Amino acid sequence: MIDGKKVLFSGMQATGNLTLGNYLGALKNWVSLSDEYLCFYSVVDMHSITVRQDPAVLRKRARSLLILYIAAGLDPEKNCLYYQSHVSGHAELSWILNCFTYMGELNRMTQFKDKASKHGDNINAGLFTYPVLMAADILLYQADVVPVGADQMQHLEITRDIAERFNNIYGDVFTIPEAYVGKVGARIMSLQDPSKKMSKSDENPNGSIYLMDDADTVMRKCKRAVTDSEGTFLYREEQPGLKNLIDIYSVCTGKTPDEVVQEFDGRGYGDFKMAVGEAVTSILNPLQKEAARLEKEKAYVDSIIKENAEKAGYYARKTLRKVQKKVGFPVRV
Ligand code: TRP
Repeated sequence: MIDGKKVLFSGMQATGNLTLGNYLGALKNWVSLSDEYLCFYSVVDMHSITVRQDPAVLRKRARSLLILYIAAGLDPEKNCLYYQSHVSGHAELSWILNCFTYMGELNRMTQFKDKASKHGDNINAGLFTYPVLMAADILLYQADVVPVGADQMQHLEITRDIAERFNNIYGDVFTIPEAYVGKVGARIMSLQDPSKKMSKSDENPNGSIYLMDDADTVMRKCKRAVTDSEGTFLYREEQPGLKNLIDIYSVCTGKTPDEVVQEFDGRGYGDFKMAVGEAVTSILNPLQKEAARLEKEKAYVDSIIKENAEKAGYYARKTLRKVQKKVGFPVRV
């Protein structure tokens, strides 16, 4: 708790082009959580270098992501929006937590196994201890809740295990974080294969709508979206392509899936796909405009980056000093 509010932590990587899935599934909900919680939203650039990056590209994308946080409606005065690498406490706590994490635990992480098989030429120690850095992110701010997708749930569980282990030895140092449950973000699937999540690393660019796609591109991708040959307009698992489009349309317009079904009952998929394209563009257009405006407001964005890193650093240091003392590091005089 900070100032009577529960603390929330989440982060996103600036690798790849963000998709509509990242926005509707995560970012949009982050905005709605920022009244209820004291939120730390980080651009987790330290996690990004577990996979080889082009430095100039990473730097540019990290800034664009931070700008996107603001453009999406996260108030930088109320929320803490910052680069992970600007708060050294993440690295410092991560080291300490490494010493309270077992090789066997990390070996069980499915994301590690996944990434190790994809990046066989660079299975570095950072990739292996990625979940420990994530634990440090969360525990550094004594976060009560963490909104994460299903793919990060295992990392949240290991975070809880590490925190409990530490607390068992040293007393109540860390708040044990919970997964944020509540109105969970829409799970947006690939437009080309609705059994897969829409992903920024999809090789088929038609499967994903990117946040920076223009209206024509959005429309083309929507028109090409895979549906089915049933021809009935229903919201159900048996028609996953249509169901996904209904989900997208529903989040973009604020209508419930049932209302969407009523609206389009008896009309062809073609009509509906056009409506989805328009609805998506009506969401993306203002976001893109605001992001483009902020990209030009260099001094303003720089000041936010600086102030927010200081704010995050303040809370991070509080936890870090406590932890350092507990493990026996000499007290600073
Ligand atoms: N690993 C997360 C992802 O790729 C990003 C992340 C890093 C994160 N640290 C976090 C998410 C802490 C939630 C909490 O999606």
